[in-house]
Amino acid sequence: MPTSRLPGFYKKSLDERLEHLQSIELLDDATAKALLNPVPISLLDEFSENVIGRFSLPLGLATNFTIDEEDIFVPMATEESSVIAAASHGAKAARGHGGFTTTGAKPQMIAQVHLIDVDAYQAQAQIEAISDELLDLLHDPDGSMEKRGGGPHTLRTRVHHLSNEEECLTVHIIANVQDAMGANYVNSLAEQLAPHLAEITGGRPILRILSNLATHRTVVAKATFDAETLGGAQIAHDIVTANHIANADPHRAATHNKGILNGITAVVLSTGNDTRAVEAAAHAYAARKGQYRALTEYHVTPEGDLQGRLEVPIPVGTVGGATRSHPQAKAALGILGVKTAQRLSQVAAAVGLAQNVAALRALVAEGIQEVHMALHAVNLAREAGIPSERVEEIADAMVDMGTVSASAARRLASQKGIDIEAD
Ligand code: MEV
Repeated sequence: MPTSRLPGFYKKSLDERLEHLQSIELLDDATAKALLNPVPISLLDEFSENVIGRFSLPLGLATNFTIDEEDIFVPMATEESSVIAAASHGAKAARGHGGFTTTGAKPQMIAQVHLIDVDAYQAQAQIEAISDELLDLLHDPDGSMEKRGGGPHTLRTRVHHLSNEEECLTVHIIANVQDAMGANYVNSLAEQLAPHLAEITGGRPILRILSNLATHRTVVAKATFDAETLGGAQIAHDIVTANHIANADPHRAATHNKGILNGITAVVLSTGNDTRAVEAAAHAYAARKGQYRALTEYHVTPEGDLQGRLEVPIPVGTVGGATRSHPQAKAALGILGVKTAQRLSQVAAAVGLAQNVAALRALVAEGIQEVHMALHAVNLAREAGIPSERVEEIADAMVDMGTVSASAARRLASQKGIDIEAD
């Protein structure tokens, strides 16, 4: 695998970037075309209902990532400028210390059946006594999951006391879903099992669906970030304190974790996976101890560097859904070079950690608005019709003046004799 360290990649034109990726054999002609060409509307029409058009987002490439000793080029689909640059900066600070290490993300999903109108404790005993026989009743609707070595392997039960004073018996079917995200598969297992549970217990299965709190798919990503690259010892210490603040204050933790998801969601989206499933899992996991907290932990090492750790469930697939049928998702998976769902989760977690460290660094140092304003100025200069070769100059001038707006961009353009492009 070629190096993911690509200094100055951001300064190249789009054509030059693609040429470079082709020259290092990361992209072939067909994949480069798939990235640039709009997805056929006939295909999009099959993905959803009442389709009236297509909605596009930029797909960028985060650089500098070494994950478990492998250099990885990370495609990220996001509308938020600064996300890809931030992830690349975070990864750069970790690179000198070996990059990221990851563990976890077993491809196991939980399907739930909730039984009501039942003596929950008696039903629990009845089900637990024959759990192996119950598992044997389940079959793979199209056989493909079994062929890949997946399938249900464990039943668990728990009694819940509902706020209307009813009892509910919750049955978990835990299934290996191999490289699928597995939602459809485990939903069908829940629907298959429910009538048997009703017959055995006399209860009424009211809900039969997966749990998005996909605890088995929890990944741990770790890295040591170079204090000097982050801006010094004080910044490393302040990042640790910022994490403590997020642990103490749920209002801050929501923003902190949103920053992590800026990275994770962009990777998940680029590969055609379900971003809402991943975000639901992450937020529920952040609240698992009774208070909503940061998904990360940091400390300063004896050498003065910053060690970070992110723990988060990331339920994704590399088969099924749009992952293979959406040409750009397929291209993104090809660029990542990941073969398994587990590996995709691990890569996304490393990106989440890089994203968080970069955001915290900016927050405790110069403040996020400096970066955001610079990027906002670029967007406004473009919007005002400044030709692309002069956008950076006008954006810088607006930031220096302290007035960032489309009209300021036009005023500066007229002072500098720059012709504005019509829409
Ligand atoms: C902005 O999209 C994300 C941040 O707010 C994250 C954070 O505050 O940690 C910068």
